[in-house]
Amino acid sequence: MVPNVSMAVDVRTLEVAQGNQDSGASAHCRRVAALAMELSRVAGFPSSTPGLLRLCNLVDQQFESLQFEYKDTDSILDEIREFAPFEGFDAALVEHFRGLRSRLPEQIRRGEGLPVEAGTARQIFGALGQEREYEVHELAAVAVKDPVVAASLIRVANSSLYSAASRFAGAGPAIAYIGTVEARKVMLAAVLRPLFTSAGLMRLWNHSVSAAQFCSALAAKTERVAEDEGLMLGLIHDFGSLAVHFAPRESRDAYTRLVERGCPVTYGERLIFGCDHGEIGAEILSNWNFSDEMIEAVRFHHQPERSEGPLTAFIYLVEFWSGLDEDLPSFHRVEECLRRAGLTLEALAQTGTRNSALKTLRSLT
Ligand SMILES: [Fe+2]
Ligand SMILES: [Fe+2]
Repeated sequence: MVPNVSMAVDVRTLEVAQGNQDSGASAHCRRVAALAMELSRVAGFPSSTPGLLRLCNLVDQQFESLQFEYKDTDSILDEIREFAPFEGFDAALVEHFRGLRSRLPEQIRRGEGLPVEAGTARQIFGALGQEREYEVHELAAVAVKDPVVAASLIRVANSSLYSAASRFAGAGPAIAYIGTVEARKVMLAAVLRPLFTSAGLMRLWNHSVSAAQFCSALAAKTERVAEDEGLMLGLIHDFGSLAVHFAPRESRDAYTRLVERGCPVTYGERLIFGCDHGEIGAEILSNWNFSDEMIEAVRFHHQPERSEGPLTAFIYLVEFWSGLDEDLPSFHRVEECLRRAGLTLEALAQTGTRNSALKTLRSLT
């Protein structure tokens, strides 16, 4: 049932009544209720205000149709304002949606508001971010500068998966033992992890490692993405979510309420910050020595129709397969991305994880 103002639905009753969260209609009702509650809280009027649910319903429908045609949040609100005389709500109500908006501070968009660990991560990604073969001495020179990275290499080398007669005590021999390809992966993961965990974002970190493992395995099934490229993309694809976590308190709280009441994270981000975590992450990573293709894939990984690149389609599919529901479901996007990435649903279903080094690292930490 779609909320309708003429029915004078109380949004709290509506929210409680939505028992079947799997249904698309129920999810739609939850989002409409979430929007109405947030708007009434910000504007200070009751949730039963005439036209409020009708307006929120229109906003949700517009967000649902973004999969077919991109519009920025301001354009959506401009269009909806034009509908006011025909839909029977006060056009001034639309402006309360704009009142929810809070642009992330420039400092955060440049990645400067992140924890101190970001500085180290940036340096190591700068040194190891290029897709090429590395020599043992190159990796060792980077590893010795960071005790966390060196310790992670030694732990992986000493783990049961890489059992050795005598245990390693230095980063150089550990790299030589596990190989430069695996060592580089461990180093990149090791330097990112403290960034997430110091912010209390363990769930996001676990998701990033899982995505990296999945990307790496899935890349082997298509010639359009290199395995190392896929792994790196998985690790950093949701980097923008980290920045959202450090947004000013008031806007972050509004965003959290929307998400807790049933809006996908990208939906809440577009409403509150005017862009999603992909766009935010891309802005930060553009200062981190990443390739243009990688930055574009991160920027549009929740808006794959805005990019021609196979990497974008690829990471969209990984997000879809992760089941975290970061965006509204879209079979249209899934079909299109499978075609562009040269993959099938069966390939997704059959892909397991096979990156033993990262798996080991996660089990150790
Ligand atoms: Fe993700
Ligand atoms: Fe994402």
